[in-house]
Amino acid sequence: MSFISSSSTDSSTSSGPPRPSPSAVFKAREAAAKAKRTAEAAAQAEEIKKTFKNDKRFEFLSLIAHGQFGSTCRVRYKDEALPDIQDFLVKRSFKSPAAIRALAVEKRHLGSMRGNRHVVQTIDIPDNPLAKIDEKEWIIMEWIACGTMENFITRAKERLVEGQTLPNRLLWRFFLCLVKSCIAMAHPNAGEIARKGMTASGLFHADMHQGNILLGDPPEDAEHSIAPIMKLIDFGMAEKWPKEKPTAEQENIFDIGCIMLDLIMLRENSQHQEPIYKEFEFRGKKFKTAAGRLIPGVHGVDKRLAGLICACMATNARFRPPLWLLHSDLATVYIPGRTPDLYQNRAAEEDEAITKLWRDIVYNGDPPEVILGPEDEEDDIWSDISSELSVRSNYSGFSDLLELFPFTYPT
Ligand SMILES: Nc1ncnc2c1ncn2[C@@H]1O[C@H](COP(=O)(O)OP(=O)(O)OP(=O)(O)O)[C@@H](O)[C@H]1O
Ligand SMILES: [Mg+2]
Repeated sequence: MSFISSSSTDSSTSSGPPRPSPSAVFKAREAAAKAKRTAEAAAQAEEIKKTFKNDKRFEFLSLIAHGQFGSTCRVRYKDEALPDIQDFLVKRSFKSPAAIRALAVEKRHLGSMRGNRHVVQTIDIPDNPLAKIDEKEWIIMEWIACGTMENFITRAKERLVEGQTLPNRLLWRFFLCLVKSCIAMAHPNAGEIARKGMTASGLFHADMHQGNILLGDPPEDAEHSIAPIMKLIDFGMAEKWPKEKPTAEQENIFDIGCIMLDLIMLRENSQHQEPIYKEFEFRGKKFKTAAGRLIPGVHGVDKRLAGLICACMATNARFRPPLWLLHSDLATVYIPGRTPDLYQNRAAEEDEAITKLWRDIVYNGDPPEVILGPEDEEDDIWSDISSELSVRSNYSGFSDLLELFPFTYPT
């Protein structure tokens, strides 16, 4: 096989066979490394399959994905004594020191965020057959059933008509999920509620993109009554930051702003696109935001939502709203207050329409997969949900909010 690219034809100054161009060599090395990773992932999956094979409680389902540092496999748990654990994910690191280090970092951070449900949860399996394999090499996590955000956007585009955006009331709920995943990082012991004055952990995710945000079946609570839950995964690159500015919290907030912008614009892989910088007004002063695509406004999108995203993506981190404010703003003002009538009763903003839309997008029109047993608990999930928000912070009222955060929203 020749590695000579069409632009590397300068053989006049050297004798012997033409040499491959540096970029062709680089590409060939990349391809070889990728092939090695694919083979290593397949071998790992085979080993996991064998490990679970002799225990009737488990059924190996499939290799899900592999990246730079390791592979992920889905395994089914069929022990009727523990119906809460159904499917789970085994994440394994490759053998390189960098891969083992990344898994150790992820394990440590996931351990510190246990109990925060907007971050993927590690789980314990009794008499775990994986105990035979060095525990530095694997993590077991809950299975998050509804795919990546990237997938969601791709399928949403197929379902929505040209120029249509996701319903505002769904976007607000996704936003709150993302804010809560940031609260989990900043305040892992606070029950996903941020309050003014809390000391933050300084944890920066550092790899927030659409493949690292997963959608899961909604828990039975009012907050997720019409929307799936979003969970943050993949903490292999996460790091604690020194207390300098911008803080980890401010950087995570910028990143969730990018995610929200993509959900509004329905763009996959936006990290490859140049941001558009524009000015916006905040507390009477003008500042720059990297969310310029939202200015002067996107048809059908709530200007308050657009304004908050512009603020999250302020180029000067000082002007990004703090987590406690975002949390109280969304949980106590916008999510309970943005009823369909505020959107001129647009049919798409009704509870039933939103529920139908996301389920169509996620399940592709098919009924959700039944994992265990004959009984389908779906009816219980959807029928009896309180309309009252279960989560309240110590936020003291809308006037406080306006005083602290008096945007002039993009017009
Ligand atoms: N808990 C989970 N439930 C369901 N799917 C998952 C879960 N965790 C990871 N996945 C799937 O596996 C993929 C890879 O997982 P993860 O991002 O943790 O690994 P990675 O090796 O860091 O991958 P990459 O290098 O591609 O980011 C995810 O994009 C997702 O599709
Ligand atoms: Mg990943």
